Amino acid sequence: MSIEKILQTLEWGSAPESIKMAEEFVKNFGSEQGIFINGKWLYPVGCERFNTTNPANGEVLATIIQSGQKEVDSAVMAAREAQPKWAALSGHERAKYLYAIARNIQKHSRLLAVLETLDNGKPIRESRDIDVPLMIRHFYHHAGWAQIMDETHPNHEPIGVCGSIIPWNFPLLMLSWKIAPALAAGNTIILKPAEYTSLSALAFAEICRSVGLPHGVLNIITGDGRTGARIVEHEGIDKVAFTGSTGVGRIIRNAIAGTGKGLTLELGGKSPYIVFEDADIDSAVEGLVNAIWFNQGQVCCAGSRLLVQENIAEKFHDKLRLRMSKLRLGNPMDKAIDMGAIVDESQLAMITKMCKEAEAEGLEMWQADNPLPQEGLFFPPTLFSNVAPSSTIAQEEVFGPVLVSLTFRSPSEAIALANNTRYGLAGSVWSQDIDTALEVARSIKAGTIWVNCTNQFDANSGFGGYRESGFGREGGIEGLWAYMRNKPPTSEKSLSGYMIHQSQSQIQTSPSGGTAGASLDQQGSIVNRTTKFYIGGKQCRPDGNYSLSVIGPNGFVGEVGRGNRKDIRNAVEAASKSINSKNWCGKSAHSRAQVLFYIGENLQQREDEIAKRISAQTGQSMDDAISEVKDSIAEWFRWASWSDKHDGRVHETTINGLVLAVNEPLGVVGLVCPASPSLFSFTRLLAPLISMGNSVVAIPSETAPLAALEMYQIFETSDLPAGVVNIVTGLHEELLSTIAEHDAIDAIWADINDMTLVHQGSCGNMKQTWKATSLSSDKELLRRACNVKNIWLPHGI
Ligand code: NAI
Repeated sequence: MSIEKILQTLEWGSAPESIKMAEEFVKNFGSEQGIFINGKWLYPVGCERFNTTNPANGEVLATIIQSGQKEVDSAVMAAREAQPKWAALSGHERAKYLYAIARNIQKHSRLLAVLETLDNGKPIRESRDIDVPLMIRHFYHHAGWAQIMDETHPNHEPIGVCGSIIPWNFPLLMLSWKIAPALAAGNTIILKPAEYTSLSALAFAEICRSVGLPHGVLNIITGDGRTGARIVEHEGIDKVAFTGSTGVGRIIRNAIAGTGKGLTLELGGKSPYIVFEDADIDSAVEGLVNAIWFNQGQVCCAGSRLLVQENIAEKFHDKLRLRMSKLRLGNPMDKAIDMGAIVDESQLAMITKMCKEAEAEGLEMWQADNPLPQEGLFFPPTLFSNVAPSSTIAQEEVFGPVLVSLTFRSPSEAIALANNTRYGLAGSVWSQDIDTALEVARSIKAGTIWVNCTNQFDANSGFGGYRESGFGREGGIEGLWAYMRNKPPTSEKSLSGYMIHQSQSQIQTSPSGGTAGASLDQQGSIVNRTTKFYIGGKQCRPDGNYSLSVIGPNGFVGEVGRGNRKDIRNAVEAASKSINSKNWCGKSAHSRAQVLFYIGENLQQREDEIAKRISAQTGQSMDDAISEVKDSIAEWFRWASWSDKHDGRVHETTINGLVLAVNEPLGVVGLVCPASPSLFSFTRLLAPLISMGNSVVAIPSETAPLAALEMYQIFETSDLPAGVVNIVTGLHEELLSTIAEHDAIDAIWADINDMTLVHQGSCGNMKQTWKATSLSSDKELLRRACNVKNIWLPHGI
C-alpha cells in the first residue's frame, strides 16, 4: 500500500490527556476552594459560594467563594502593608522570586494546563502548547526586568497597590500579563479571576506560596463582577488593570473617574484579517483557522472580519469551507481535537442569538457538518459571507467561532474597511508583496498587526488597543511603564517644577458689542481688540459672538472669544481633516522638526512683544516675562530636536523575524492648559504633541490666554499646515465636557485639579486622558504623545 493510501485510510482516534493530577489538586484543596490573602489560604465562613463547572460536560469541579467587602478589605490591607517592603527589595531579590515562580510553573505545567482546560473548555493542545508556555515566558522575561530595572528605569518608582481584574478566555495568560510586570516593578497586587475560571489562578497562588513569595505581595480573591467592582473602587488601590468587555471597561473608567488611580484597559475587538490576491492562499486559510477558531473564537484579538480581495474571494471561500469541514470539535482533553467547548451557557446563548439575528437580517450563515458532541457547550465553526460592512455582525464582537467575510478591490478600500470599526486591537495582513503588506500594516488603526501570520504573542512585545479596544500596553517595556511612575521631577523646566509666577490676571465676561471689553486708543476712538480663535489655519470669530475681557493688574489688556460647543466642534473638524489628509502626520520627522525649529526662530523675533503681552496680563516683571519667552523658544528647539529621535524598537521575540514597535501619533488631541505660566505651559505641552505628528485642539490659559493666542501669527509664518494647531479660548469649565465627550478626539491632556468630568466624558470612545502636570520628563511626554503599534514580520526562505 502506498503511503498516500495509508494516509487516506487512517482512522482518527482520540488521545485524551489524563485529568488525574487535576482531580488530585481539587481533592487536596477541597471541592470548596479558598481565597489567597496575605500568604495564607482562607475559607471565610458564611460567604456566598458558586459552582465552577466543566463546560464540556457540565460537571461541577468545585465551589468558589464570592468574596465580599470584608475579603476585599483584607486583601487590600495585606497588599498595602507588603508594598513598601517589596519595593525596598533590590531588583535582584525580586528577580529571584519571579524566576522561582517561572521555574515552578514549568514544574507544574501539566497540572496548570489540565486545570485550565477543565475549567474553561479550551483544547488541551492550546493550554499545554500556547497558554502555559507563554505564561512561563512572561515570568522569566519579567524576572529579567526586575533584575536590570535600576539601569533601565532610573528615577522611577512603583505605583503601589494594583487591583487586577481578568477575563475567562485566557485565565493563566491574563494573570501573568498582570502579575509579572506589577511585581517586577515593585508593586503588590490583588487579582480577581473571572467567575467561570478561577481554578488555575488558585493553583498559581499555591505555586507562589510554595516558593515563599513574601506575604501580601500577591493576593488572589474570587468572585463575580460585584467583587471586581469592590476592588476597583477600594480607596487602597492605586492602579487598576482590566481585561474584558468594553462595557465593563466603561463602568470601571467611570467608577474611578477623578480618583487619580492609574488605569489600563484591554478591551474588545473586531479585528480585520486581510487577504490580498498575491497572498499564499493555503497559508492564509490556515492562518484564518488560527485567527478565528483558536480558543473557539473567544479571543479579544480574533481575526473575526475576513476582508478578501474580490478576484480571489470565491477560491478562498471554497478552500476555507473545506478546511472548516475538517475541524474536529470534541472533548477538550482530547489532544487530537481542534475546537473545544464554549466557556459558559450565557456565552453560548449570546453567540447563538447574534447568529440568529444576523440570519434574520438576511445574511447567509454557513456551518460545516462537523459532528458535535452529545453533551457540553459546543458551537460549530460558522461563516457569514457577503456581509455588508454596516451589518451588526460585522461591527459587534461575537466572541465565538463566527467569521464574517467581506470583499474589497483595492488596497485603499481594504484599509478603509479595516478601519471601519470602533475598535482597534489587532489586524492581520496577508500579501507576498512587501510594499502592500507594510503600507496596509502602517495604515490600520490598531495596536498589533501581524503580517503573513496571526495571533503571535511574546512577553517582550507590547499588546493593547487603539480606540474602544482600550489603552495601555501589556508586555515588554511598553507594558512595564504602566506599573511605574516618575519620581518627583528634578528639572525645574518640567511643567510641575516650573516656578509658577503669581499671576494677577483675571477674566471677565462681557457681551459682544458692549464696551466693557473695548478700549479707547490714543485718539479716543473705540477699538475692538477681540483676538480671534485660530481654527483650520484661519482666524475665526466665536460662534456665540461672546467675548471675555482679560484684566491684568493695571486693568484691561485685551479681549478674547468665549468659545462654545460649536467652536470646539469646528476646531475638532479642522484637526481631523489635518489627520485624515496626513498634511502633518504624513510628513517625515525631519520635516516636522524643521517647522518646529522655525517656530522657535520666529518666536525669537517677537520676544519683546510677546513678553509685554505676558507681563501686561500677569503682572510679571519684563525680565521674568522675557525669561518665560526664552524658555518657550528653548522648548520649540527641544521638541524639534526630539521629532526624529523618539525611535521605535525592534523587539527580540521568540519568532524568526522582526517585531517592529512603531511610535504612531495618537491622532487628534484635546489640550487644556494651566493658567500659568501661560506661554511656557502651552508650549511645553503643545510642542511634543505636534512634534510626534498629532493635531491639536488647544485651550490656552483661562486667565492669561493672549500670548498663546498670538502664536497663531508665528504658526502661520512658520509653514505649519492648516489644522495642526487650533486654538479656542474660553472658560475651561464650559469647554471641558465638549472636549471630553467628542468622539473624534483621541486623547486629552488637561491641567485641572479635578479630572472627574474629563474621565467620565472620555468613556464614549475610551480616549486616553492624562493630567498634564503629571507628565514631567521629556521621555514621558513623548511616550504619552504616541501609541505604540507592534508589527510582526516573520520571515524565512
Ligand atoms: P466581563 O467584561 O463582564 O468580565 C471580565 C471580568 O470583569 C470578570 O472577571 C468579571 O467578573 C469582571 N467584572 C464584571 N463586571 C465588573 C465590574 N462592574 N467591575 C469590575 N469587574 C467586573 O466579560 P463577560 O461578561 O465574562 O463576557 C462578556 C463579553 O465580554 C464577551 O462576550 C466578550 O465580548 C467580552 N469579553 C472580552 C474579553 C477580552 O479579552 N477583551 C474577555 C472576556 C469577555
